[in-house]
Amino acid sequence: MAVSTTDRGSWNSKLGFILAAAGSAVGLGNIWGFPTQVASNGGAAFLIIYLLCSFLIGFPVMVAELTIGRNSGKNPVGAFRSISSNKFFPLVGLWGVICGVMILSFYTVIAGWAFGYAFEEIFFAMGMDGAANWLTDTGNGVKNAIIASVFMLATVKIISGGVSDGIEKATKTMMPLLIGILVIMIVYVLFQPGSSVGIREYLLPDFSKINAELIFAAMGQAFFSLSLGMGALITYGSYLNKKENIPQAAAFVTLTDVTIAFLAGLLILPSMYLAQANGVEIFQDGQLVESTTLVFDVLPALFHSMGAIGTVFGVAFFLLLSLAALTSTISLLEVPVSYAIDEFELTRGKAAARIGSGILVISILISFFPSLIDYFIIIFNNIGLPLGGFMICVFIGYFWKTENAINEMEYGFAGIKQTLFTTVWPFFVKFICPAAILYTLGQILYGLFF
Ligand code: PHE
Repeated sequence: MAVSTTDRGSWNSKLGFILAAAGSAVGLGNIWGFPTQVASNGGAAFLIIYLLCSFLIGFPVMVAELTIGRNSGKNPVGAFRSISSNKFFPLVGLWGVICGVMILSFYTVIAGWAFGYAFEEIFFAMGMDGAANWLTDTGNGVKNAIIASVFMLATVKIISGGVSDGIEKATKTMMPLLIGILVIMIVYVLFQPGSSVGIREYLLPDFSKINAELIFAAMGQAFFSLSLGMGALITYGSYLNKKENIPQAAAFVTLTDVTIAFLAGLLILPSMYLAQANGVEIFQDGQLVESTTLVFDVLPALFHSMGAIGTVFGVAFFLLLSLAALTSTISLLEVPVSYAIDEFELTRGKAAARIGSGILVISILISFFPSLIDYFIIIFNNIGLPLGGFMICVFIGYFWKTENAINEMEYGFAGIKQTLFTTVWPFFVKFICPAAILYTLGQILYGLFF
């Protein structure tokens, strides 16, 4: 039985696709992950390495993923199978699907925390301390599980709506809203006296802090934030029209993602120091408070110290974080759903409901044992995604061949062969990206065992 076109779907417009891909990229990784990593990894030193990883490694891999997706019109497993007869690469696609499933399982829990905090701000302002404290308890398994389920339900609902009516429509409204809220908050924070300490910390690099761990963290962060290495963009590319210019779209998505991460840093680093000036503890034993606590403890403390305007900002900030997370959970769930639609011929609604429920079981487990998140991040994010990116580069560079990929891009980019892109991109995909990823992973594995 052939899969019906409605179940597979396609983007309605170029803008819709770009916003959906940018929506996938912009998420907890930018607003929760990036500022924390910057703060605990030497400020601007991390920022610089992260920018290099995003543009020099992430962007070429993004072009690669979108091209594989559009050429094959398939989910990550089917895509490798349809382009090459090599039996190994569909397993790379499957690894991507597994990483997606595992990342989504902890992602919904953190997204649930953010969503809960939006209401916490309201209860706090109303003096309902009991309800507010319940929502802020990130170790409360029952609460975590309830909110994670709500989040998963919303994701399943949007995915069931289809590619253009579900994903595209939802992200088209959410993305501009998100950018608007972020900019307003930055302007406010930057005008507060005392914010300059945070800005200095963020923008003045201390190069002595660059080491193997920092590069590993920046690489993992870049892959996670750009949604690379697990086939999310192979999947989104599979719904893409032949008319679209892939390198241009990828450049736009990379720039948007990096800009939002940069802006989030500009909001959170100064906020940390403002919070400190207001008596909030941001360092413990000379170390910055750990990641979950940073956004979920320090910022609410800052909002609470700001009076009524703090409530407005608090609600806006956590709703923004939830919206950003939702446009990412959509893309995380879309990967296994597209796999099920293509390979097992399930209808979209059934695939979304069944896979969503399966992943929710893992989310509930994580809700009760949130410390599992750190292990999931190391295995499926920091190691899994760059490894997937490495394999994608090897596939394009040495199996499918970059000439064929350029031919695919030429449909939406007439004259591509006369541009510098045709010389530079293959060089990066064949040599620079795989070598940089291998070197980084190798250094870390070596450090673990020797
Ligand atoms: N890019 C998303 C974020 O920054 C997370 C994500 C990773 C989404 C991988 C899809 C695939 O939060």
